[in-house]
Amino acid sequence: MTTTERVGTECERLRSVIAAELARTRDRTALLTDAVDDDDLMQQHSTLMSPLVWDLAHVGNQEELWLVRDVGGREPVRRDIDDLYDAFKQPRKDRPSLPLLPPAEARAYVRTVRDKVYDLLDGIRFGDRKLVEDGFAFGMIVQHEQQHDETMLATHQLRAGAPVLDAPPPPEPRVRVGGEVLVPAGPFTMGTSTDPWALDNERPAHTVDLPAYVIDAAPVTNGQYRAFIADGGYDEPRWWSGAGWRHRLEAELGAPMHWRRDGDGWAYRRFGRWSPVRDDEPVVHVCCHEAEAYAAWAGKRLPTEAEWEKAARWDPATGRSRRYPWGDEDPTGEHANLGQRHLWPAPVGAYPGGASPLGVHQLIGDVWEWTSSAFRGHPGFVAFPYREYSEVFFGDDYRVLRGGSFGTDRSACRGTFRNWDYPIRRQIFSGFRCARDARPEEAHT
Ligand code: AVJ
Ligand code: FE
Repeated sequence: MTTTERVGTECERLRSVIAAELARTRDRTALLTDAVDDDDLMQQHSTLMSPLVWDLAHVGNQEELWLVRDVGGREPVRRDIDDLYDAFKQPRKDRPSLPLLPPAEARAYVRTVRDKVYDLLDGIRFGDRKLVEDGFAFGMIVQHEQQHDETMLATHQLRAGAPVLDAPPPPEPRVRVGGEVLVPAGPFTMGTSTDPWALDNERPAHTVDLPAYVIDAAPVTNGQYRAFIADGGYDEPRWWSGAGWRHRLEAELGAPMHWRRDGDGWAYRRFGRWSPVRDDEPVVHVCCHEAEAYAAWAGKRLPTEAEWEKAARWDPATGRSRRYPWGDEDPTGEHANLGQRHLWPAPVGAYPGGASPLGVHQLIGDVWEWTSSAFRGHPGFVAFPYREYSEVFFGDDYRVLRGGSFGTDRSACRGTFRNWDYPIRRQIFSGFRCARDARPEEAHT
């Protein structure tokens, strides 16, 4: 094969990967929006969330802005609706009262945009511009839609009424996992400069040197969290930060979101169905303040973002950072509970195939994990392709969450992927694990 032929084949391969990812993602969006009727799509189920029909057309509008207009240089499909679907111009609470495209129009709009994207993908030359190098702009749009699919799943969880979503339960535990793992002192590579679809805030790769620390081998479970509640954890200001305690009082927090007392125990509501809380699953729907209070009660703390990433990526045998805890291969159903295959976190021990070399489990999938770090750019950060994806959120207001949840697609989840939210938020699929400094005698064994 000549170099030109090889480049041509490589380009065909990338084109077909992109087409498949776009189609797979749209199937998920369709499932989430076809599950309810038109009235329901137009309704706001919580002031924290958009009506589902807003997410749907917003996904299409971002695709139009970036792929049809910018990458493709084509005429706008609907310039008149740009403002309606601009997340910065329309606060969530106002979205239900906007003159939104009704469901049939929104569906037709996203279909028209998508047809134009398939058309321009046919003639694309990935080497032409940085924006399309390795298919980046397409990857960004796939991830954007998948992120909204997770947001729509969280909207479904908040929705009252009869259940409309169904999925098989996650796998049962296959190994016993518990306790803590020592991560020895030393440098590791955080972030990436080479993962082609990594977003701006994951870049660039840089060295971070950490002292020895200890991290939980698994996320904190419902059983462990119940012990904190039973011990009066919600009534003890000493476990809570100042801001955390104020929020605990004001929001009258007393248990994870979607829990209620059930006789002597607890039940939780998941996508419209109540069931007894299962002790061996990672706790989900807790805010960062609750996570911090639990950690203090347990005599620990939340990991920093760097500690989370070193536990997830550092390979002691080679000293390199992997893309995922298990290696560089893309996630499969053997590695992690991702992609809305199941509708809740898997019990601890269900994914031995996803463990890190040091034996830390379920870092990817199941629940987003709160860290103690505020959301900032890595050293050398450059906004790309727009400041509004990450940079405008940098600062002390947002906390970083890592690892993805059962609701996160594999395309939007990597060892370097960074999510962020306000520390009071718990409608997202958020849980945590604890960490602590290594004691001197531990650090030197
Ligand atoms: C990365 C999940 C914080 O949903 O607010 C969606 C992703 N950015 N549309 C969000 C995003 C623009 C973002 N998070
Ligand atoms: Fe968006």
